[in-house]
Amino acid sequence: MKKIGFIGYGSMGKVILDGFLLSGIIKPYEVIISTRTGSKLDHLKKEYPEIEIAQNNTVTTMKSDLLFLMVGTSDVKKVLVEINEFTSKNTHIVYISVALTIENVNRIFKGKISKVMPSLTSKVLEGVTLICHNSAVTKTEGEYLNSLFNSIGIFKVIDEQDFDVGADITSCSPAFIAQIFMEFAKTASMNSGFSIEETEEMVIKTLYGTSKLLSDGNMGFDNLISSVATKGGITEEGLKVLDEEIPATFNKLFNTTIKKHDTIKNELKEHY
Ligand SMILES: NC(=O)c1ccc[n+]([C@@H]2O[C@H](COP(=O)([O-])OP(=O)(O)OC[C@H]3O[C@@H](n4cnc5c(N)ncnc54)[C@H](OP(=O)(O)O)[C@@H]3O)[C@@H](O)[C@H]2O)c1
Repeated sequence: MKKIGFIGYGSMGKVILDGFLLSGIIKPYEVIISTRTGSKLDHLKKEYPEIEIAQNNTVTTMKSDLLFLMVGTSDVKKVLVEINEFTSKNTHIVYISVALTIENVNRIFKGKISKVMPSLTSKVLEGVTLICHNSAVTKTEGEYLNSLFNSIGIFKVIDEQDFDVGADITSCSPAFIAQIFMEFAKTASMNSGFSIEETEEMVIKTLYGTSKLLSDGNMGFDNLISSVATKGGITEEGLKVLDEEIPATFNKLFNTTIKKHDTIKNELKEHY
């Protein structure tokens, strides 16, 4: 019986594979994995003895139909070239590099390809994974892959052209959100008797509650804002400042990230 293959076990490989195993959507005996630094798999093997650790990527490839490439963007080409001759007509490659187009990958591997944009939030089985399948992926194969990612958050199938801003929204945003609220906590601490640790704890708990109200409570941004900001009150004054300052900042942020996506994409295109 074919297994589900994983090549690379860094930050994202760990989030995704550990998430699938934790959610129970895949069983340890279904998994075969290889990664460059084998010792990084010691803990995984200890926790899930039934996982098969392969000596190299070609073994992982030969023993699996569904194959996750969890290596960094700059290593994808090397791995594709290495494994290509060991793939079969059933091999379905899933990769997670936003800047790498399906067309790039298809230049080397002429088969079933899905591009996936995961998020660190899947570590707690939350957040959104963006997915795009090429035309060689059958409906059943696509739906199976979608269901895997549905077990570690939710999934959204999108057009490849929407991946860049989509990745900013779902994958880069945990870092953006953390930076925004780190600054909020720093400034609040400087303007009060609270230590930075106390302030961060208050902010994080409030962020968690706010997220729950928006998500589980279905409140919606506008509704939540108007529920807190009474007319003529303090929140309303604060909101006026944000209204003046924030749109320009986010415009600048998206202009910058969109340019960077294009630059990396163009650089990569030359290598494929
Ligand atoms: N971090 C995020 O939040 C995030 C979100 C979405 C997408 N991504 C994308 O995910 C990809 C991986 O990112 P990451 O943060 O997980 O990187 P990472 O921590 O560097 O992990 C990459 C893994 O691939 C392994 N590897 C490299 N070359 C290999 C080879 N030839 N054969 C087998 N294994 C190999 C590395 O081995 P070693 O342990 O020996 O280095 C490492 O375990 C990137 O393209 C990134 O853009 C990341």
